[in-house]
Amino acid sequence: MLLAQLPASAAPRGDPVAGREKADSERCLECHGGSGEGQGFSVGTDGKFAKLGGQYPEYIIKQIQDFRSGKRKHEFMKMMATGISDADLADIAAYFATLPPMPAAAKSAQAPQQAAAPLSHAQQLYAQGDPARKLPACTSCHGEGGKGTAGVGPVIGGQGQRYLEQQLHDWRSGSRNNSAGGVMNQFAAPLSDAEIEALARYVSEM
Ligand code: HEC
Ligand code: HEC
Repeated sequence: MLLAQLPASAAPRGDPVAGREKADSERCLECHGGSGEGQGFSVGTDGKFAKLGGQYPEYIIKQIQDFRSGKRKHEFMKMMATGISDADLADIAAYFATLPPMPAAAKSAQAPQQAAAPLSHAQQLYAQGDPARKLPACTSCHGEGGKGTAGVGPVIGGQGQRYLEQQLHDWRSGSRNNSAGGVMNQFAAPLSDAEIEALARYVSEM
C-alpha cells in the first residue's frame, strides 16, 4: 500500500494567510490582537491576554492542546480551544508566528531603591540565575532578550507585564503545571512576590 509509506504524523504546515481569516472569524484577534492592531487587548494595562505575535507556532499549538485537555486550566480558553479544528489551529498558529515580534513595553524609569526587588536584580536573575537557590538563568531557555529558543523555551520578551506576572504566580502556586518535567514550577518556587513583579516588568521591557 502506497499510503502506508507516508510518514505517520506529517505535521500540518499551517497557512498564515488562511490563518489570518480564521483568527478573525474565530474571534482570537479580539483579545490577542493582530498586525497593526497593537496586539488587541493584550497591550492594555490590565491585559492578561498573552501577546502571540512572533511566538513559536509549536508553542501556540501545544498550549491550545493543553487548554483542550485541561492540562492547562482556563475556562474561556478551553472553550475557544475546543471550538477549532487541528487544521484551523495550524493555520492560526502560523499566522501569529508571522506577525512582528511582541513589542517591548516602554522602559520604566524606576529608581532601584523604590522597589523591594530592583530591576537590576531581575536582570541578574534573568541572565545568571541564582546558584544558591538552584535557579538556572532564564536566558538559557528563553534566550537573549527573551526572544526564545526553538524547541526549548517560548518567546517571553515584550510579553505583557500583567500576563507574565500572573503566569509566574501560577507556576509558583502550581495552578499552571503544563511545562515538561514541571521545570517552570521548580524555577518559580523560590521566587518572592517582589522578584516576580520585577522579573515580569524586566521581561516585558525587553
Ligand atoms: C475573550 C478573550 C479571548 C479570546 C477571544 C481568545 N483568547 Fe486566547 N487567551 C485569553 C486569555 C485571558 C489567556 C490567558 C490564559 C491564562 O491566564 O492562562 C489566553 C491564552 C492563550 C494562549 C496561551 C498564550 C501563552 O503565551 O501561553 C494561546 C496560544 C491562545 N490564548 C490562543 C487563542 C486562540 C487561537 C484564540 C481563537 C481561537 C483565542 N486565544 C481566543 C483570552 C482570549
Ligand atoms: C529549562 C528551561 C527553562 C528555564 C531555565 C526557564 N524556563 Fe520559563 N519556560 C520554559 C518552557 C519550556 C515553558 C513553556 C512550558 C509550556 O507551557 O509548555 C516556559 C514558560 C514560561 C513562561 C510562560 C510563557 C507564556 O507565554 O505563558 C514564563 C513567564 C516563563 N517561562 C518565565 C521564566 C523565567 C522568568 C525564568 C527564569 C527565572 C524561566 N522561565 C526559566 C522553560 C524554561
